[in-house]
Amino acid sequence: MTESRTEAPATAGQIAASGDTGEPAFYYPPQELVDQSNIMAYARERGFADAEALRQWTVENSTEFWADMARRLVDWYEPFNTVLDDSEAPFYKWFTDGKINIVHNALDRQVKTWRKNKLALIWESEQGEAKTFTYWQLYKRVNKFANVLKSMGVQKGDRVTIYLPRIPEIMIAMLACAKIGAMHSVVYGGFSVEALQTRIVDAQSKVVITADGGYMNGKIVELKKITDDAIKHTPVVEIVIVVQRTGQEIEMQPGRDLWYHDLMALPIASPKCETEQVDAEQPLFMLYTSGTTGTPKGLVHTHGGYQVGVATTLHFTFDIKEEDVWWCAADPGWITGHSYIVYGPLILGATQVMYEGAPTFPYPNRWWTIVERYGVTILYTAPTAIRGLMRFGEAWANRHDLSTLRLLGSVGEPINPEAWRWYHRVIGQGNCPIMDTWWQTETGGFMITPNPTTPLKPGSASRPFLGIDADVVNELGEPAGDDEDGLLIIKQPWPSMLRTIYNNPERYLEQYWDKAPQGLYTAGDSARQDDDGYFWVIGRIDDVIKVSGYRLGTAEVESALVSHPAVAEAAAIGLPHEVKGNAIHTFVILKNGIEPSQDLEDELRAHVGTMMGPIAKPEAVNFVPSLPKTRSGKIMRRVLKSRALGLPEGDLSTLES
Ligand code: WT7
Repeated sequence: MTESRTEAPATAGQIAASGDTGEPAFYYPPQELVDQSNIMAYARERGFADAEALRQWTVENSTEFWADMARRLVDWYEPFNTVLDDSEAPFYKWFTDGKINIVHNALDRQVKTWRKNKLALIWESEQGEAKTFTYWQLYKRVNKFANVLKSMGVQKGDRVTIYLPRIPEIMIAMLACAKIGAMHSVVYGGFSVEALQTRIVDAQSKVVITADGGYMNGKIVELKKITDDAIKHTPVVEIVIVVQRTGQEIEMQPGRDLWYHDLMALPIASPKCETEQVDAEQPLFMLYTSGTTGTPKGLVHTHGGYQVGVATTLHFTFDIKEEDVWWCAADPGWITGHSYIVYGPLILGATQVMYEGAPTFPYPNRWWTIVERYGVTILYTAPTAIRGLMRFGEAWANRHDLSTLRLLGSVGEPINPEAWRWYHRVIGQGNCPIMDTWWQTETGGFMITPNPTTPLKPGSASRPFLGIDADVVNELGEPAGDDEDGLLIIKQPWPSMLRTIYNNPERYLEQYWDKAPQGLYTAGDSARQDDDGYFWVIGRIDDVIKVSGYRLGTAEVESALVSHPAVAEAAAIGLPHEVKGNAIHTFVILKNGIEPSQDLEDELRAHVGTMMGPIAKPEAVNFVPSLPKTRSGKIMRRVLKSRALGLPEGDLSTLES
């Protein structure tokens, strides 16, 4: 299972056909890419013949490996003494006694080198306007805004909620918080009132940063109005900073709401600002994600370990080089954007592209015009986007010169082999290996992923990243056999792991560490490993639905439904969907005397959209007289799902009769 199989055949880009199906079993990377890759350079330096041998060494010597990365890829104000402190496991600490700040490595150190004048960010608006920022320009904006936050009394450890569209200010705001040691809590701009409110309350943010509105698909998202609704009953919020993006009419509450551009024009907004020197374990941010209950979890990441994890994974997996143009098409509001838009690329001194809007605006070739215009070399996106673009046919991509691309990436859900092959053939023109990266908000960075030397199997994230020890086990915690489904677990800590759930350490223990087998990190996914040791992630084992790669809790959708006056009870499940991967289907029991109707169905769908955001809008609302429940009253979503799919209903012994 662990035998090395990375040797590529002599011909670049060659495909090895598997005997019976006619489809290639492995897609091999171009030899030149392998030879020149960052990972091979490190393997050679360490005396290994290939990346797989290096990988095995790093898994067995993970603290030595991570310490090496912590010294090479980032700078410390004061060096760390301990690499990994496991005295209070699973509350692991990394690089203790080290003093650092992620912004020092992302910006401060860059402007002292030739990278000062290198482009850090090329931003394109949905309307097609472009703005660029050198490292120096970004550095100064961040300093100015950090001074603004300081002048409002924001201090080390305070939480600031950021609810912004995909514009440069979201990066500036996040970096400014980090610079002064405050924690940012970014709420994705596609979320709505309820989601925003619960996250502000849980974080107890006194300052909220938003915009008048944002553009998406030619329409305006009313961010300020949603913010107003969310904080109406949230007395903790003292100040709302508003970025002017659309120029639309909005209400500004005197004494509470302030324009970003006015603040940035004040003398207090000096372009010089000392970076706070913090402990490696100082919390950097919290990011909410859905779990099994209605209350979202604020996952906490830290300054030290997180940046080491993010820089290492981006360096080796996507092979970032000085001359690359990196484009992670995710939203900065998700972990993908935190790690691989805001922090990772800046720490590595890369040039990156950020695009504000929808992939099909105004036409389905929008992304390919961007690749061509800026000469993008590495593109990282999600299966749902690929499937969405695939529907319009390959002619849209074929009209553009995509020959600058050298690597592609995928994240968020399993990629179906058909979409993988299309992405590889049409977008990568057969030359670009696809890095199918499996990871989570919890893990901070890639956990199971190919690297540029890995022979690829479409649909498999291949093998664990350097230093990561992953496995598949059965319910008793014993290793599953080849091709046997089981729970995906991680057997040793890694630097960019979550540290806790904000204000809820018990939930952290119970959710991730107390499942079988005890003491090992349980990801919440089921998976299998084939006889080459490749991992195939199947999907979530809990009540989380992945809709277009977004993680939504059934409980949150259900609570939005029952907040409607017509609804007595509700259940939500995910069913397969061609583009979205999964779509939300709901089952609703109406209150006595209320009649089902098409209008009511539309109203309920819209209600969930308004409460939670358009991504959570159910595909269907089915009116039912009852719901299958256990004797203790828990809804059996599994039964609803089997029924909807016409499958056997499985073990019904706990079903209430
Ligand atoms: C869940 C985590 C990590 C960034 C975006 C999602 C699923 C993620 C893959 C992949 C199969 C994947 C898992 C995981 N997932 N990447 N390459 N192949 N499944 O972060 O919202 O925290 O969701 O996304 O189910 O547990 P997230």
